[in-house]
Amino acid sequence: MQADLDRILFDEATIHRRLDELAARISHDYRDRELTVIAILNGSVILMADLLRRIPLPLKLDCLSVASYHGGTKSGGELIFRQVSLPDVAGRHVLILDDILDSGVTLASIREKLEAAGPLSVRICVLLEKKKTRLRAVDPDYVGFQIADEFVVGYGLDYMERYRNLPCIGVLRRDLIAPAA
Ligand code: IMP
Ligand code: MG
Repeated sequence: MQADLDRILFDEATIHRRLDELAARISHDYRDRELTVIAILNGSVILMADLLRRIPLPLKLDCLSVASYHGGTKSGGELIFRQVSLPDVAGRHVLILDDILDSGVTLASIREKLEAAGPLSVRICVLLEKKKTRLRAVDPDYVGFQIADEFVVGYGLDYMERYRNLPCIGVLRRDLIAPAA
């Protein structure tokens, strides 16, 4: 799989060191408040497992399954919620966890939905933030790494559902991306 990468951006050790820092900040910020983590599937599964085990606080975990595009490299447009019901966040301090902030459509839509359900607070944590103009404005509270506007895979991030199990994050070779995507 690594041969499909143009180059590695963050190796496993670098990601884990950054997770130590993020987890320490989150643990400090929520030391007096009970945290409810809402992880966005499927992209955040690896991040969720590695980050949450570094947070020594009582917390609740729920997952949300959404789709914003269908297997290509472009996101945006309308968000489809696969759940029948949303997690119960009324009266809770919510931290939304996602792999990457790209167009902003996913996180803006999720934040809007959850805020309508009466949480005490809503914050956003993403492993990656692409530096680009967004379709919807999102200001994440915790960011692992900022990256250029390139298509990346690994550590939960996929192209056509592949590469999620790569332990590092890298830029996918352009010749492997379908021209129509
Ligand atoms: P947004 O709604 O455009 O911000 O996109 C968010 C979702 O698109 C992420 O949760 C990813 O699943 C997917 N995505 C955006 N950029 C990339 C990328 O570079 N690689 C893999 N998936 C991506
Ligand atoms: Mg994806």
